Amino acid sequence: MATEAEAVTDADAMRRAIALAARGLGSTSPNPVVGCLILDAAGRPAGEGFHRRAGGPHAEIHALRAAGERARGGTAYVTLEPCDHTGRTGPCSQALIEAGVARVSYAVADPNPQATGGARTLRAAGIAVEQGLLAEEAEAGNIAWLTSVRRGRPHVLWKYAATLDGRIAAADSTSRWITSAEARADVHRLRAEADAVVVGSGTARTDDPHLAVRDVEGAVQPLRVVVDTEATAVRAGARILDGAAPTLIAVAEDADLTDSGHLPDVVRLPRGVRGLDIPALLAALHERGVRSVLLEGGPVLAGSFVAAGAVDKVVGYLAPVLLGAGPAALGDAGITTIAEALRLRMTETARIGPDLRITAIPEPATAAASAEAEPVPAGAPGPVPGTTTTKER
Ligand SMILES: NC(=O)c1ccc[n+]([C@@H]2O[C@H](COP(=O)([O-])OP(=O)(O)OC[C@H]3O[C@@H](n4cnc5c(N)ncnc54)[C@H](OP(=O)(O)O)[C@@H]3O)[C@@H](O)[C@H]2O)c1
Repeated sequence: MATEAEAVTDADAMRRAIALAARGLGSTSPNPVVGCLILDAAGRPAGEGFHRRAGGPHAEIHALRAAGERARGGTAYVTLEPCDHTGRTGPCSQALIEAGVARVSYAVADPNPQATGGARTLRAAGIAVEQGLLAEEAEAGNIAWLTSVRRGRPHVLWKYAATLDGRIAAADSTSRWITSAEARADVHRLRAEADAVVVGSGTARTDDPHLAVRDVEGAVQPLRVVVDTEATAVRAGARILDGAAPTLIAVAEDADLTDSGHLPDVVRLPRGVRGLDIPALLAALHERGVRSVLLEGGPVLAGSFVAAGAVDKVVGYLAPVLLGAGPAALGDAGITTIAEALRLRMTETARIGPDLRITAIPEPATAAASAEAEPVPAGAPGPVPGTTTTKER
């Protein structure tokens, strides 16, 4: 980032706005992450901001406040089209007009029918408006929210940790710890960025997982969700029932809840081909404001998500360990012949301590998914120490 004395290029300014937006990951739902940088009339940084939480000021408002009078005649760089509606806060388009900004450059158009129209309002007020600068990077940084608006369900990232021979547990079901402490710390970062962390009843029974975020400064705890058709997997005293984060147990409409007084929050869902219906689960989470899901397994539940076409991104941690027996990372996903294989495009590989992290998105890439091949915005929560990253296109 240039100092105050130096002029800043358009691309530098938008890159900074994208980095600012990333600071809101995990805490803005059901709103998007948005960053904004304002340059004064001479092209020098005057103010910046990002959307921190739903109900709080939008990025543009933070940036305008910081810029004060220096916004007059300047340029606002925003990662998402400024909103045009009065919700819990006033329209950003009006705030930019009143501040006397001469030009607005935004990366991605707002697909939300309620908020769109900001660009039109700005133009009508005589402001020069441009769209599309670093659009792919900005879209990648906001992919969870954009996916949720476009598909009406949360973005799903399936994460697993496996041995080099693709096993996620030993034959005796023990799976702690296949990957390193560094990889596990990286998973806490993923949890911090997610609105909900989901596991199946098998994992709840075998591992008694906690699923809350540890050691990520300022993290908003995700909703912990167990997909437990018969409401029998989460016993009183289970670690997931502590107060560290909210917890939701998804059960069948007809599940017997007689002995379930210890379950804090239960949602009843229709049964699917196997267990609970995945689209219904995602719809119920969406209704609760969840825009991003981190699916932490196990293989049987992950297989159903893949079969339902409900995995948008895969992060696999591969440890240089061999087991030779034990369950594979992914269970039955309804794929029986190689022609049906779900092909993925690798978007990043990274060394995480002694392990390898592979990030991939399904092919054929959808408009929403393809943007994820772009680099993680500068300033996004970075990898843990001792890691190297390679991004591929
Ligand atoms: N290394 C890793 O990354 C990792 C991560 C997680 C787990 N694990 C390991 O995986 C093992 C457990 O895996 P798992 O595959 O047995 O359990 P799982 O995937 O966590 O849970 C499977 C269970 O979820 C329930 N379920 C509800 N709706 C479902 C649906 N639509 N599709 C599929 N299942 C649904 C089913 O039981 P009901 O219908 O009876 O509820 C099903 O048997 C453990 O050994 C654990 O340590 C490893």
